[in-house]
Amino acid sequence: MAISDFPRHPLTFGPSPVHPLDRLSRRLGGASVWAKREDVNSGLAFGGNKTRKLEYLVPDILESGADTLVSIGGHQSNHTRQVAAVAAHLGLRARLVQERWVDWDQPGDETAGNILLSRMMGADVRLDPSGFDIGIRSSWQEAIQEVEAEGGTPYPIPAGASEHRLGGLGFARWAEEVAVQEEELGVFFDTILVCTVTGSTHAGMIAGFAALEDAGGRPRRVIGIDASATPEKTRDQVERIARHTAELIGVRRTLRDDEITVLPGWAGRRYGVPVASTVEAMRTTAELEGVILDPVYEGKSMAGLIDLVADGEIPRDSTVLYAHLGGQPALNAYTGIFDDPALLD
Ligand SMILES: Cc1ncc(COP(=O)(O)O)c(C=O)c1O
Repeated sequence: MAISDFPRHPLTFGPSPVHPLDRLSRRLGGASVWAKREDVNSGLAFGGNKTRKLEYLVPDILESGADTLVSIGGHQSNHTRQVAAVAAHLGLRARLVQERWVDWDQPGDETAGNILLSRMMGADVRLDPSGFDIGIRSSWQEAIQEVEAEGGTPYPIPAGASEHRLGGLGFARWAEEVAVQEEELGVFFDTILVCTVTGSTHAGMIAGFAALEDAGGRPRRVIGIDASATPEKTRDQVERIARHTAELIGVRRTLRDDEITVLPGWAGRRYGVPVASTVEAMRTTAELEGVILDPVYEGKSMAGLIDLVADGEIPRDSTVLYAHLGGQPALNAYTGIFDDPALLD
């Protein structure tokens, strides 16, 4: 089977924009850096990477006859906000378990940003005191049972839609989209850089680019920058989902180890808590490009990109595609980070 054999329900505007980051590239004094913008990929509640993943889940949701999407994330989860948007769009209910994944008592954490948007869209938001873990959670399983006990028909969507059998397809298709855009723009991105936590964004890309390589495409590096602060777990999850997705889309060979790269070093000590390099990368990208990054994910992956170019790990003649996966609504719960260094890890 190929990606095109899987049913997809469009939730995005079409191919997400790709554009150069000229002033940032000049500042780095080396690699030519471009961005592909999942943060503006959809009209559904500001979109993002989960909107693209959910395009492949919707046909299954509709076929299942479910009336309630049940999902899970942190208080400021971008994923649950996008699930709430898709539920609203389809005329379904959403039950969202929002755990205390981040030890963060700043104003707005439980009321502003993503969680505000989910409530606005009519989701049934349930706060839970449990801490961060990208695995399958008992609170989520209980929520599924509760919906059933109340007479509803749940459709379970795990954290980040990652441990769902179709969760990697959205970003496998992203790889195909990149190849088409490269033709149009007359560029080749030898390095793709992506933030990774629950894993299926990065894993889908690995599978998608492996399929392209097998069809005669030039090899390239896909670098995942860990933002989970539990990089071994994230790497395991990326590897498992990449292998599964590759099989789904008809990649016949075993993925090589060098195709699965998760780099630690920019997440800090804790998921969701920015460090100095995160804030610095956010400020640099905003000041030089007017491009807004969040402190949980994209600020950390951009900090990785900046350092990898600076120390030559990404060579000066490289053309890099930075996957901007969204996440800006969470900024509303992080307003103090630019003024108060004590908030940073
Ligand atoms: C803005 C943003 N960037 C990156 C990620 C990481 O994606 P994934 O969980 O698929 O690894 C997420 C979600 O976790 C996200 O919301």
